[in-house]
Amino acid sequence: MDYKLLIDQAIEMTARSYAPYSHFHVGAALLGKDGKIYTGCNVENAAYGPSNCAERTAVFKAVSEGCREFEAIAIAGGPEDDTGKPQIKDFCPPCGVCRQVLAEFCDKDFKILLTDGTGQIKEFTLGQLLPESFSLEK
Ligand code: THU
Repeated sequence: MDYKLLIDQAIEMTARSYAPYSHFHVGAALLGKDGKIYTGCNVENAAYGPSNCAERTAVFKAVSEGCREFEAIAIAGGPEDDTGKPQIKDFCPPCGVCRQVLAEFCDKDFKILLTDGTGQIKEFTLGQLLPESFSLEK
């Protein structure tokens, strides 16, 4: 799989983000080991707490469709401009909750690709971004 496609889809998904409270738009594209791409965006709520991040939207979509094994995720995000359009100008690393949700289904070598929208990519593994993670497995 060409990770450029995954990154492009993450950027495209920022346009689907529902973020009327933070005005910060995030898109994610998750590559399943079934070869399919599961996309997601952040979906906010007036009560704030029920809001969902882009990465978790993608994971929950995939799992609910029967895919539980993953190879990589691409993430893009940034604040909106005066017209409400997302601006991707910096890297958008996943929050702690999303890292933990990824750890439920992904190995330590799962790839996390971040883009700053200018063509620069930062690549991490889940093991790097969530070391010594909690798990019930022995
Ligand atoms: N957000 C994500 O979608 N993913 C992250 O990993 C970090 C934050 C969203 C949540 C909220 O809708 C907005 O970005 C501002 O925090």
